[in-house]
Amino acid sequence: MRQLVPAFLLVFALLSALPVTAAVTPPNVCVTCHGGLAARLGMPVKIWKTSIHAEHGVSCNACHGGDPMDAVNSMSQARGFRGVPVATEIPSICGGCHMGIAKYHAASPHGRALGRGGPTCVTCHGSHGVVRATIDQINRKNCTPCHGFESALEIKNIMMKTDGMLKAIEDRIIELKNQGILTDTLEKRLFSLRNQSHSLFHTLNIDLIRQESAHLQAELEKNNSIGSTGTGLSIGTLAVGWALILALLFYLIKKNID
Ligand code: HEC
Ligand code: HEC
Ligand code: HEC
Ligand code: HEC
Ligand code: HEC
Repeated sequence: MRQLVPAFLLVFALLSALPVTAAVTPPNVCVTCHGGLAARLGMPVKIWKTSIHAEHGVSCNACHGGDPMDAVNSMSQARGFRGVPVATEIPSICGGCHMGIAKYHAASPHGRALGRGGPTCVTCHGSHGVVRATIDQINRKNCTPCHGFESALEIKNIMMKTDGMLKAIEDRIIELKNQGILTDTLEKRLFSLRNQSHSLFHTLNIDLIRQESAHLQAELEKNNSIGSTGTGLSIGTLAVGWALILALLFYLIKKNID
């Protein structure tokens, strides 16, 4: 019976192995050269290194243009180098990748005040030290330099409720995962619901946020019944996952006993 243990472990290790996305950063002359420069030319590299962008291989050229493979011509206009972007250019640069959010922002009171005192993406997220965004960033310190906090607080309160529900489901998924249940599909679904919820903030439209949050909350309530009731599509997926694991285990046990 002793040699069964490694077999169990192997099965679980194989089944719980998630595809790991490695943060491969190819050699980049912008980073190497600026990394050796002083003050305002070197500082961006130090700050960027610990950012979520660095983690995902989004480097200097993603926002400043230029050629990261050719030290001699890296900052030539012919290679698309655009220097230091001014406020009015920033939303469209970030929007090159964060399209949905840039759209929301452009149509919002903030976007409509672009170039006339409205905040750009980097007013709130920073340019080089971008980290994972959270609802805590909606606070008096960040939001009151330009206006009052009442509307901001109202939006925050609606979003907090959705966030709480997202957190509860996340905890439940971790629980299921710890029991060895395959949760990939659930995780993907949760990830997309969370994105929808966080992006919506940028509209600054209280009625829309309230309405969409109600939809999301209804959707989340459905998902929250996973594991407690025996119904729904998701539980079907889980059951299939379990059936496969059990079949494999029985096969291995049988083989070992035989
Ligand atoms: C061989 C060294 C070297 C390389 C490679 C290099 N830079 Fe620079 N960069 C500099 C120096 C020196 C300056 C300041 C003088 C200047 O503007 O030319 C500078 C200036 C800048 C500025 C500020 C310009 C301004 O107007 O203040 C930005 C932004 C910048 N670089 C981004 C990049 C990006 C993006 C890349 C890669 C595509 C890159 N650099 C590659 C050395 C380099
Ligand atoms: C996500 C977009 C983004 C990335 C990635 C990025 N930058 Fe920037 N950078 C900006 C923006 C926007 C500004 C102008 C606004 C500001 O100063 O915050 C800027 C400003 C600068 C400046 C001028 C700073 C000053 O004080 O005048 C330099 C130099 C620079 N970046 C270099 C770099 C280098 C080198 C990298 C790579 C390590 C890099 N940037 C990566 C968006 C980015
Ligand atoms: C070349 C594509 C690209 C550009 C340009 C870009 N980003 Fe990103 N950004 C990413 C990727 C990839 C991630 C990490 C994956 C994710 O969470 O979406 C990310 C993550 C983020 C996050 C954290 C998301 C979270 O889940 O909390 C913020 C905030 C952000 N970026 C803001 C900006 C801002 C502000 C700019 C412009 C100054 C910008 N990005 C420009 C690709 C880009
Ligand atoms: C750089 C200045 C600036 C900062 C910082 C800023 N805003 Fe604004 N905000 C504006 C401007 C300009 C408008 C449009 C004019 C207006 O309605 O006051 C606006 C409008 C709004 C509106 C719609 C008008 C209303 O009161 O209903 C909301 C909501 C809002 N901002 C929320 C926020 C939140 C939340 C933050 C912090 C995360 C924030 N703002 C940070 C400049 C700013
Ligand atoms: C007034 C401040 C403010 C401005 C301006 C702003 N954001 Fe955000 N952003 C936030 C806050 C606050 C959150 C987090 C909301 C939450 O957690 O519910 C956020 C969330 C995000 C996220 C994460 C969404 C996710 O899926 O989790 C990204 C990416 C992002 N912003 C990019 C941008 C880009 C690109 C722009 C410009 C087009 C921009 N933001 C403008 C405050 C701002």
